[in-house]
Amino acid sequence: MKNTGIFYGSTTGTTLEVAEMIAKCLGIKESDIHNVATTAPSEVAAYDLLLLGTSTWGDGEMQDNMDDFSHGLEVMDLSGKEIALFGCGDESMSDTFCNAVGELYSRLKDTGAKFIGADFGTDGYSFDSSEADKDGHAVGLLIDNVNHPDLTQGRIEDWCRMVAAQE
Ligand SMILES: Cc1cc2nc3c(=O)[nH]c(=O)nc-3n(C[C@H](O)[C@H](O)[C@H](O)COP(=O)(O)O)c2cc1C
Repeated sequence: MKNTGIFYGSTTGTTLEVAEMIAKCLGIKESDIHNVATTAPSEVAAYDLLLLGTSTWGDGEMQDNMDDFSHGLEVMDLSGKEIALFGCGDESMSDTFCNAVGELYSRLKDTGAKFIGADFGTDGYSFDSSEADKDGHAVGLLIDNVNHPDLTQGRIEDWCRMVAAQE
């Protein structure tokens, strides 16, 4: 596994929980999990693979701390690094489900980084529209821990397998 850092933005703790589950699945140390509320974007320099997590708030907007953090990242040259995205949302907000994951992708796609884990199947999900959805595939791992906490562990395992195979 490449030198991997997890950077997450979480308002009520769900994306943090998911970050910890991903870390466990991929064997990432707790000291490599960073809350972006208290982390400078320059800290990504220490890693080759960045796992970036955000929840979606408001009417499909990025979690506040990740919004600030990713504005810092978008002006950096991230060539040679890999990025994998994950996020939490609520399918009952069916027009904006996990929008922030798609927004994060759009914001960072020209940084030179290579995206992995970015063609995650959306079978079994139920939403009308999401910026994270590109022709039936999500640009990262989408988690709905509000309505489907029972599916969270399996989805994380599937996505971690994909990330490990592509990195
Ligand atoms: C006021 C409010 C607005 C929300 N807006 C959205 C939304 O537009 N799309 C979505 O998928 N989830 C939305 N959510 C659900 C949150 O993203 C979800 O609860 C998530 O697990 C929170 O993660 P966090 O605790 O890591 O911030 C919203 C929740 C609240 C309370």
